[in-house]
Amino acid sequence: MNQTATIEAPDSSNTTSGLTTTNAPFIETAQERGELFIAQPYDLYSEDNQEAWRRLYARLLPRWRSYAHPRFLEGVENLALSAEAVPRLEDINRFLAPLSGFEAKAVSGYVPAYLFFDCLRRREFPTTITIRDKNSLDYLPEPDIFHDVAGHVPMHTDRQFSDVLVRFGEVARQAAFRAKAMPVREERIRVVESNIKALARFFWFTVEFGLMRKSPGSEELRVYGSGLLSSFGEIEHAIESSRVQRFPFQLEWVINQYFEIDHYQPLLFVVDSFADLFAQVERLERWLVDGKLDSVSPGEPAINEEDLRSFLNASITES
Ligand SMILES: [Fe+2]
Repeated sequence: MNQTATIEAPDSSNTTSGLTTTNAPFIETAQERGELFIAQPYDLYSEDNQEAWRRLYARLLPRWRSYAHPRFLEGVENLALSAEAVPRLEDINRFLAPLSGFEAKAVSGYVPAYLFFDCLRRREFPTTITIRDKNSLDYLPEPDIFHDVAGHVPMHTDRQFSDVLVRFGEVARQAAFRAKAMPVREERIRVVESNIKALARFFWFTVEFGLMRKSPGSEELRVYGSGLLSSFGEIEHAIESSRVQRFPFQLEWVINQYFEIDHYQPLLFVVDSFADLFAQVERLERWLVDGKLDSVSPGEPAINEEDLRSFLNASITES
């Protein structure tokens, strides 16, 4: 079966739902077939989908100019992101590949944690292609193409930042490798759960919600985390609100700090520079090897079965 089957035999809702989050027959079909990596069926984007992109982009652009890190703004320029239309991943990749070797790869849904991190190691970014409903632009528990492409991918144009992602993927691989050498199953599961929690917290407080000094030594802060960069309300809140605690990044704190995803973050961590961020991910790897991520504090995020299995069953190749 090829992907055109869903286009040739649409049900009556296909024409209006297009590729809307949680209402995309094309995606449901791909999931039923077990197809995780897919092509982006660009013609399925409805006029409502395009309108959602235009509204999201128009709202965020002035806030990016005020609050985003200059490297992110350069990334937006370098990708030639359009304010007018949902991007085609093949166009994005044409600009992205020469800059950092990264590639946005369309996926049909949730990517289990190990697979996701291992994609980063290979400079591949699993990318959601659906887009939120144009009438509910603000809160979305799951990623969409605006979060993934407008929030994440501009940072991937930066060589230093992309090296952080690759290194992070190597830490995940190291965790899976270590687990394989643990003979007692219960202990292996306990350790891997703790390792995943530490990795998820690191990722959350850097790649998703990280703040950085505008320039070394500056008191001014800028946003480089994609969860903030794709949120009209929270990007301003993160920088301006007196209800947010902003502390210098401390690895021992970050890996033990729980977080919740359904409200604005009350606590954010600040790194000095991309070189500082890279030093932190290198430190994370050393701590993993030394066993310092094996008993992090309990609490969110909960580790689901699929993520756990993805680490325990990882096939670790030399590539
Ligand atoms: Fe994200």
